[in-house]
Amino acid sequence: MSEKRVLSGMRPTGPLHLGHLHGVLKNWLKLQEDYRCFYFVADWHALTTEYENPKKIPSFSRELLLEWLTVGLDPEKSVLFIQSAIKEHAELNLLFAMITPVSWLERNPTYKDMIRELKQKDLATYGFLGYPVLQAADILIYKAHKVPVGVDQLPHLELTREIARRFNYLYRTEVFPLPEPLLSEVPKVPGIDGRKMSKSFGNAIFLTDDEETVRRKILSMVTDTERPRKSDPGDPENRCVAFNLIRLYFSPEEQAEVIEACKAAQLGCRDCKQKLAEKVVESLRPLWQKREELESRPGLFEEIVAAGNEKARRFARQTLAEAKEALFGAGWY
Ligand code: TRP
Ligand code: SF4
Repeated sequence: MSEKRVLSGMRPTGPLHLGHLHGVLKNWLKLQEDYRCFYFVADWHALTTEYENPKKIPSFSRELLLEWLTVGLDPEKSVLFIQSAIKEHAELNLLFAMITPVSWLERNPTYKDMIRELKQKDLATYGFLGYPVLQAADILIYKAHKVPVGVDQLPHLELTREIARRFNYLYRTEVFPLPEPLLSEVPKVPGIDGRKMSKSFGNAIFLTDDEETVRRKILSMVTDTERPRKSDPGDPENRCVAFNLIRLYFSPEEQAEVIEACKAAQLGCRDCKQKLAEKVVESLRPLWQKREELESRPGLFEEIVAAGNEKARRFARQTLAEAKEALFGAGWY
């Protein structure tokens, strides 16, 4: 186990699907074996865009953390917590706000993109402009060395480094390490219509779908459209959406068999997708079981969250005290 710390967060905006599982969570699971990991639900960040409708955030937060546990994030190995339970993030955010030039925030490409994309929402708020400052506080309060994120988050991470550098420079301190992004290769997970899997496209297979739903969705997946009959030879690697999911669930040998049989017009799409559905269902079954287990023991989930919050809080308090000492030098933190 490395002494290095990893931190990442997700905004609670809805149920997780196979895209999150293969794109993000599998990586988090791997990291928890080698690093001291902090994973948190970024509910204050959700508030920056959902402030008109905040009542749904707590149930999404609870659901998100529950789903993390079902995929195997282990509260004994990783610190799992809820951002808004750790007030220290807000205090560090305030200190960082004092030293962050507004121009750094205004030129942030993610900021400009989001304002453009979410036109129906009024995002011209102080809180939304300050989104990356709060994110810097999230990361730096745990003195994280590595931050697994998607490429869309790289500008935020660069800002985090700039804020850390500025703080360290202004107050002649080394309280904050400069965190680095951890970019893992992310497999393409197709939705059932062939576009990228996404809740807003209505093409997602959710981790909480039941068995029947998973099977139905997979059987409705687009296959090689130039192959209306089984007797037509197919081209799975280039023309079949279902095959992109097969890549994630079949062993290399099994994939080779599918390719051969499909090209030889010996495998029907319905049979093929049935096998795929079987594999996906079997891979999700442990998650469903874990969820039942957690839900059958009243109070267990709450205990896990409270313990995670407490671990996070202890670390955050310590860093905040060091930061304030570096800043004010009052000697009373
Ligand atoms: N901005 C991130 C996202 O939208 C969520 C997030 C908030 C985050 N704070 C973070 C991610 C700190 C990594 C580290 O996905
Ligand atoms: Fe795709 Fe399988 Fe049909 Fe071939 S047999 S086109 S791989 S679903």
